[in-house]
Amino acid sequence: MNNAIAGFSKLSKEEKINWIATEYFTSPTDAIATIKQYWNNDESLQKLHDEFIENTITNFYLPMGIAPNFLINENYYSVPMVIEESSVVAAAAKSAKFWSTRGGFKATVLNSEKIGQVHFLYKGDVDKLEQFFKQTKSKFYTETDSITKNMQKRGGGILDIELRNKTKELENYFQLHATFETKDSMGANFINSCLEQFAKTLKEEAQNFSDFSDDEKDIQVVMSILSNYVPNCIVRAEVSCRVEELAEKNINNPQEFAEKFVQAVKIAEIEPFRAVTHNKGIMNGVDAVVLATGNDFRAVEAGVHAYASRSGKYSSLSHAKIENGIFTFWMEMPLALGTVGGLTSLHPLVKMALQILGKPSSHQLMQIVAVTGLAQNFAALRSLTTTGIQEGHMKMHINNILNQFETSDEERKTIKKHFENKTISHASVVSFIENLRK
Ligand code: MEV
Repeated sequence: MNNAIAGFSKLSKEEKINWIATEYFTSPTDAIATIKQYWNNDESLQKLHDEFIENTITNFYLPMGIAPNFLINENYYSVPMVIEESSVVAAAAKSAKFWSTRGGFKATVLNSEKIGQVHFLYKGDVDKLEQFFKQTKSKFYTETDSITKNMQKRGGGILDIELRNKTKELENYFQLHATFETKDSMGANFINSCLEQFAKTLKEEAQNFSDFSDDEKDIQVVMSILSNYVPNCIVRAEVSCRVEELAEKNINNPQEFAEKFVQAVKIAEIEPFRAVTHNKGIMNGVDAVVLATGNDFRAVEAGVHAYASRSGKYSSLSHAKIENGIFTFWMEMPLALGTVGGLTSLHPLVKMALQILGKPSSHQLMQIVAVTGLAQNFAALRSLTTTGIQEGHMKMHINNILNQFETSDEERKTIKKHFENKTISHASVVSFIENLRK
């Protein structure tokens, strides 16, 4: 195959579709029909979607579902979720209902600081650079005045700017490490605009700093960009109840269940292979709400997994304990989310999702998202530590065979006991029954 093309972006939408259809499909007419089947009849709505990205040919549908009955800080929420995995919304809803009768979820935003950095190279005397930074610091604020004015009116802005010496790790490498409060916006554009102005100011002011030699004046800015690692933008979500209150259909012995659940979490705390899958279950809930509310799930994913590795070893985001007869299950995670700006006022379904959530502030959305992640984690651990996915399969399979052989209650008991912890195959069960009946 050799399907390279020059100037694809300059083609019209029809031309792009024709090129794709003829290059990659034996029946271009069918391919074009499939692509167009997903176009919206409303031309202005389709144009809106076309313009979200470059080279749009069609829309890619994902289901949007609702997980109702989330009791969070005494308020009920119906949580919109966008996801393709079949069991996720059902699991969230089941977990939400379970905890709604046990005091609900408690969620708190611990802090909401965002970070951005200007990465630059300086070849010279470090003391002079520090002196220069001290003298220039106020200019970084005044020269970003026009960018920060509106954000300041909303209570946000630049929190601090530090000079960081990274030369021990990389020759001549320094940073302007800046922290921001961006209120209800995710703040990526705001932060990046501030950083690009910091970089300009840095270079210009270095030229005017008389203590610098000509070489020292030549500061080289490598790049200016926000960080998606936000370890000081943390939300905590928690559930707790008396151990005996955990009793339910598949939880006959709540003490045993609670202990096994805590053990499962401890395994994820110390074993990275398990932690990744454990946290993936959390992200099933988190990403689905992040997507539904038009936020950047790649940024959230990157930041969350960095946070899960902050000790130097990848670990569980959630934790659980039993203390004085109380079962507590909680999680802290970094979430940089916005409820204004970006797609929030553009995508009709994002607007709808935010309306369903009661037009939350970014802090409230952080709480809802973290709670959905915790609920998802609870649902996964509950089934893994009780019925288990495999056990469910095996039970179904063995029942079919037992029915086929019209086994008595007595025979069933013996056979089930024998296969309790064994892999079931049709042949092994048949052979066991035949032996039993000899
Ligand atoms: C599947 O999408 C998620 C789980 O694997 C999570 C877990 O194992 O905890 C069930």
